[in-house]
Amino acid sequence: MKKLSTLLGALLAPMLLISCSQGGGSAAVDDSPEGVAFRYRHGLMEAVAWKTARLRGMADGSIPVNEAEFVKSARDLATLGGMLPEGFIPNSIVEGSRALPDIWMNFNDFTQKAGDLSTRAQALADAAAANGFEASKGMVQAVGQTCGACHRPYRGAEDEGEE
Ligand code: HEC
Repeated sequence: MKKLSTLLGALLAPMLLISCSQGGGSAAVDDSPEGVAFRYRHGLMEAVAWKTARLRGMADGSIPVNEAEFVKSARDLATLGGMLPEGFIPNSIVEGSRALPDIWMNFNDFTQKAGDLSTRAQALADAAAANGFEASKGMVQAVGQTCGACHRPYRGAEDEGEE
């Protein structure tokens, strides 16, 4: 039995490897520092979008309210906002990136806009923790406005075939 499972393992391992390399997403972005930075910030933005969708969904009544999750999502969002600028290392407009060169010409402003997201998300978290969901849900909109405020000047059009 033991032998059989070893044999199976030996047969399966390469098959798994093959299926991973085929189905594991595109390898368009390489492992250069710029490619890694792009993947890092892409992942962050996805997390930011997820947290924001949770907050918005609860605020507009489309998903059930969970007060603890509401506070935590706002807190997480404040943390994520503070992690954004470091992902935008110089010359990192790699294939698939929608980052615009203006980011690096106005990096202080760009950092400030990420700071706005953090500040507003933190204010929401504090208000929700102190006064509860009902009293603070109106502040979700101010958090959401920081996305467009940064995307408008600093994010270009979508690549063909993307999203
Ligand atoms: C400080 C600027 C800034 C803020 C604030 C910001 N974004 Fe972004 N976001 C960008 C840039 C620049 C890109 C494109 C990055 C790239 O493609 O290299 C982006 C990309 C994205 C993407 C696509 C994933 C990707 O990396 O291509 C999503 C989704 C997204 N942002 C959601 C949000 C949401 C939701 C908010 C607000 C809660 C937000 N962003 C706030 C600058 C920002």
